[in-house]
Amino acid sequence: MSLPRSSHLGVLVCGAGVFGRNHLRVYRALEDEGVPVRLAAIVEPNLVRAGAAANDWGAPVFSSVEECLTARAKNEVDFAAASVCTPTSLHFSVSEPLLSAGIDLLVEKPIAASVEEATRLIDLAAQHNRILQTGHLERFNPAVLATGSILNHPMFFEAHRLSIFTPRALDVDVVLDLMVHDLDIVLSLVQSRVRSLHAVGLPILSRKVDIANVRIEFESGCVANFTASRVSTETVRKLRFFQPHQYVSIDYARKDLLVIDVSRAAHADPATFAAAAASAGAAGFPGLHIDKPAMKPGEPLRLEIESFLECVRTRSRPLVSGEDGRAALALALDINAAIAAHAERAGLARFANQP
Ligand SMILES: NC(=O)c1ccc[n+]([C@@H]2O[C@H](COP(=O)([O-])OP(=O)(O)OC[C@H]3O[C@@H](n4cnc5c(N)ncnc54)[C@H](O)[C@@H]3O)[C@@H](O)[C@H]2O)c1
Repeated sequence: MSLPRSSHLGVLVCGAGVFGRNHLRVYRALEDEGVPVRLAAIVEPNLVRAGAAANDWGAPVFSSVEECLTARAKNEVDFAAASVCTPTSLHFSVSEPLLSAGIDLLVEKPIAASVEEATRLIDLAAQHNRILQTGHLERFNPAVLATGSILNHPMFFEAHRLSIFTPRALDVDVVLDLMVHDLDIVLSLVQSRVRSLHAVGLPILSRKVDIANVRIEFESGCVANFTASRVSTETVRKLRFFQPHQYVSIDYARKDLLVIDVSRAAHADPATFAAAAASAGAAGFPGLHIDKPAMKPGEPLRLEIESFLECVRTRSRPLVSGEDGRAALALALDINAAIAAHAERAGLARFANQP
């Protein structure tokens, strides 16, 4: 059976697991709202998940990318863009045939399992003139988007990303699973190369590092501390940073941005400021402005997918490119090397990441 051609952009979702289902939900919502996009196909090798996906989304489900591309070549399905939501260890093997077949890709984070794989995907995308976006969705968090207008000279970052343990994403460690989000955000805000890093990490419940702490110094002089855990008793998603006269606090989960500003006048006369501060309550602190900048509300994943579809339509460079994905991955892998070296020095090598 051959399909009539549609003016709506056909999209494929590879991997109908926990996060792939979120991509499916967003594409279908956009389709239902009249956006010219159409959920055209799903690839899911797990029979139970494939059955559930077919039932829930009513799109044809294939057991492999190859099978799906064969059906496309026979004009049985029609898609020109795809989300890759498989386990990270499979991002490369799933993305390669799609890019080679001329499909634009949104690849979940981290972009691949190695820098070499990421580079091959970037090269393939360039060779076939394809869009390659990395799924660092926190860049589309309204609180992060609103940070752009207040950013001037960040000098110190403190990132906390803590999760309660669930037996998912265990093909990678906590640095590639969780910390990579904050690495990407800080790299995008600092725009400077790493000068040095110190890291410690331990496996707790899985065979890979489940909790990690890293201190990075950038060539600009900026310092960033990152803590990530997937064995916490609470969920925390916070990034705080300091720049001259300003403290900025982002709560990713609440999509909240708080800016505390010490006016230059108060700063220029520290003695008067300190005396006034001592006699005032926190609310009356002189020269202190607490601001919650206005932001456009929205679900980060939906904003990310809308942005991807716009890049596909206009053939423009994604906000989070393949190169950005590779930079965050490269830093994550450097951190893992530092964690392994630290474990060796501390006589804890048996606690390092296991295959
Ligand atoms: N951006 C985010 O905030 C975020 C959050 C969670 C997960 N993720 C990323 O999404 C990806 C998937 O994570 P998850 O938690 O959904 O994992 P998951 O294990 O729940 O789902 C992965 C799915 O891929 C399927 N799959 C395996 N091999 C495949 C193949 N060759 N082709 C197509 N599908 C295949 C599996 O059967 C499974 O259903 C990971 O890269 C993860 O890092 C991103």
